[in-house]
Amino acid sequence: MSTVDTHTGPGTDDSPDTAPGDLRERAAAALERARARTATLTDVDDGELTRQHSPLMSPLVWDLAHVGSQEEIWLVRDVGGREAVRPDIDELYDAFRHPRADRPQLPLLGPAEARAYIDQVRRKALDTLDAAPLDGSPLTESAFAFGMVAQHEQQHDETMLATHQLRRGDPLLHAPAPPVRRCGAVPEEVVVPAGRFTMGTSAEPWALDNERPAHEVFVDGFAIDTFPVTCDRYAAFVDAGGYRDPRWWSADGWAYVTEKGITAPRFWRFDGGRWWRRRFGVYEPVPDDEPVLHVSFHEAEAYAAWAGRRLPTEVEWEKAARHDPETGRSRRYPWGDDDPGAEHANLGQRHLRPAPVGAYPAGASPLGVQQLIGDVWEWTSSDFAGYPGFRAFPYAEYSEVFFDGRYKVLRGGSFGTDTVAIRGTFRNWDFPIRRQIFTGFRCARDLRPGEG
Ligand code: AVJ
Ligand code: FE
Repeated sequence: MSTVDTHTGPGTDDSPDTAPGDLRERAAAALERARARTATLTDVDDGELTRQHSPLMSPLVWDLAHVGSQEEIWLVRDVGGREAVRPDIDELYDAFRHPRADRPQLPLLGPAEARAYIDQVRRKALDTLDAAPLDGSPLTESAFAFGMVAQHEQQHDETMLATHQLRRGDPLLHAPAPPVRRCGAVPEEVVVPAGRFTMGTSAEPWALDNERPAHEVFVDGFAIDTFPVTCDRYAAFVDAGGYRDPRWWSADGWAYVTEKGITAPRFWRFDGGRWWRRRFGVYEPVPDDEPVLHVSFHEAEAYAAWAGRRLPTEVEWEKAARHDPETGRSRRYPWGDDDPGAEHANLGQRHLRPAPVGAYPAGASPLGVQQLIGDVWEWTSSDFAGYPGFRAFPYAEYSEVFFDGRYKVLRGGSFGTDTVAIRGTFRNWDFPIRRQIFTGFRCARDLRPGEG
């Protein structure tokens, strides 16, 4: 389907240079925004913080101290060379030592202790930011470690948001509804002609190791949906008996739905002749025109087969999102190189749901593909693996230990992803059975002979 060619030099993948003063402000602002969101997600009573809402998740109070623990390791000790705040708790908050299901049994910091701990770490991290030269070493160059730590906290904020979604009880989180459809009639799908494309980045300062390096790829022509698959279309698959027909499912997918008794997206229920869903404690009709949410890779793949289509590969997704056919350049985002604004995409937990399709015409890619960034993470058919020339940085446990063929790549971010933690090059991954995460998908297909 696609082959890697040559590594490209600078010029096809360039980002603006930022002065050190601006960088310091940008890093401090990103850390501050993450902490404000963490505060919102943990502004609940102690019982809600320490309870395990689902065996799939940690208690919220574990995530709370874990973000502080990682910040202490990277910014206080490593970059700052400062005295450790709590070296004794590294082990408790090491995600690789304790599976999520076991975390409630650990002697964790209590809510008040955890809050005091992360405050203390943050003060020292900001002292480090004031003092650190922002070049000369790979960790401090362009304030990388600070950007990495802000992204890490935001990733855990999205995980905590998923914990809130799994939680039973009256709503604790509130946000205004997303915008309505603003775009007129558009084609159902977009043809992306065959050709070269620069995938990944070597220049984006806060890109993580798995997004690097930039490399040129030849991609065969393909067609991709203008929008993610909506709930009404997905409901048509469910109502047509899609979950009871092995023709649409891979062997693993069929075993998964039959063994677990899965008959619809997670949080959906059929009642009184229509589909309902539970969303952050609110029980409501499933909206027709929103991207479907809370489906596993297996379900996405089965829907695509039923619809006579397939999932896009990761390369196809990124080309649809970044390729500018006029210049041949790869953009930072579908709409260009500007940081995401409220008009471009549904990001940052501004809304507690995906927006209806057509709500973000200003976020369209040059070829007219919409809502690639924000709303729902999108499953691709690709296994998570390193790009040619991949180098683990700053630690193998961020990405490299997951390059084992058990994970599928997710792209684009959701309504619960912060702007600092998403880019056209950003790669997320998870097991193909996962569906408590904020995940949907869009379909693609090969071109017919003579098309494109
Ligand atoms: C990139 C979202 C898969 O949450 O498991 C958090 C990010 N890595 N702490 C995850 C991460 C270490 C990771 N994902
Ligand atoms: Fe983590």
